[in-house]
Amino acid sequence: MYQAPRGTTDILPEDQDYWVFLEEKISEITRLYGYERIETPVFEDSSLYTRTTGEYTDIVQKEMYTFEDRGGNSLSLRPEGTPSVCRAYIQHGLQNKPQPVKLYYLTSIFRYERPQAGRYRQSHQFGCEAIGDADPALDAEIIDIAWRLYQAAGLQNISILINSIGCRECRPKYLEALKGHYSGKEEILCSDCKTRLVNNPLRLLDCKQPKCQDITDSAPRNIDFLCDECSAHLDKVKEYLVALELPYQLNHRLVRGLDYYSRTVFEVQPEDDRAQATIGGGGRYDYLIEELGGKPTPGVGIATGIERIILNMKKQGVEVPLLPSPRVLVAYMGDEAKKQAVRLTSDLREAGISTVNAASGKSLKAQLKQANTLGVSYTVILGEDEVKNSTAVLRDMTNASQEIVPFNKLLELLK
Ligand code: HAM
Repeated sequence: MYQAPRGTTDILPEDQDYWVFLEEKISEITRLYGYERIETPVFEDSSLYTRTTGEYTDIVQKEMYTFEDRGGNSLSLRPEGTPSVCRAYIQHGLQNKPQPVKLYYLTSIFRYERPQAGRYRQSHQFGCEAIGDADPALDAEIIDIAWRLYQAAGLQNISILINSIGCRECRPKYLEALKGHYSGKEEILCSDCKTRLVNNPLRLLDCKQPKCQDITDSAPRNIDFLCDECSAHLDKVKEYLVALELPYQLNHRLVRGLDYYSRTVFEVQPEDDRAQATIGGGGRYDYLIEELGGKPTPGVGIATGIERIILNMKKQGVEVPLLPSPRVLVAYMGDEAKKQAVRLTSDLREAGISTVNAASGKSLKAQLKQANTLGVSYTVILGEDEVKNSTAVLRDMTNASQEIVPFNKLLELLK
């Protein structure tokens, strides 16, 4: 028997309530903030991610689904949405539109991770990107969009963590200090941190291994090394977050696992389950477009995992409205009645009334049972007598009362 590949899930009809609820909220919220939808291909040239997400990140080193196509090109399933959006921004000349260009996506991502609750190999992200403006108010707006979605999803006890990892001018000084702090202590470090010290020192701060904790806890803080511009940018972001009444905490160890960030980085985490299930994360990426060959163009964005939102909603007991069932079932007995039923169903649908035909070859009892299971409000019953007399039986499923009505009055009555 085939099973869905490890780390992937089938989202069955009975699981759709939460998905549809969130999709509707996302479309309301993005409209409210003036973000337009973008869809990019599910795979891209592998080098797009090596150059942006980062050659030494876990995503690129350990998690990408990379394959060679029949033409010998190295392609990768998208592990995240931001690089594709920036590629599309350059490719389609979006810099010629009024800036910032505000885009969102709701799409699948693929990462070869060790599957566990809320961590999948195929998952779904809602992401927003504001490209073409370095205004710190946009950093706050991006956090605000995600926050509004979490509020709409009824999530409690979540917190916004922010940090600044500086820019090209000030970050090298910080990295020097960081490396200085770790150097001579290599022996104590976990094997990942030994590599990080050489390839990706910022990520040292992210290590969760107990043996690295003491060194990490006493590591220098990035904000103490920020240049005046980065410092002023962070102050403004904080001011706007306060103006938006968004509760944030500064977290000196927040560095994010992707390489393209500069200045502000942020994550939203459940208060009781830090690190295990970050709900959303993002930051500013003022060099990314330039690194892809575009003109220097600032950008900021966030992405949030739909599965993680749903996981937290369920954990916190948030219920969503059930999806509406069809209003009418048309039951029938005999060939002639079936023909009329097919026609009536079509007319009712035309009139905007959601209607289904009973399953074929079933007794009337079984058809009524189907109506009950579906939760329809009315069942129309057509049998030989009804066809002969141009009538129908209309059954009100809420109280099981039924009446005989002229066939040509049915549509009006049901409307
Ligand atoms: P990220 O932190 O890698 O950032 O992912 C964002 C969110 O996607 C995570 O917080 C989590 O909710 C969800 N997520 C990631 N991987 C998985 C997984 N394996 N299973 C379930 N959910 C997952 C980014 O992807 C950046 N592109 C965000 C961004 C947008 N930065 C700027 N703009």
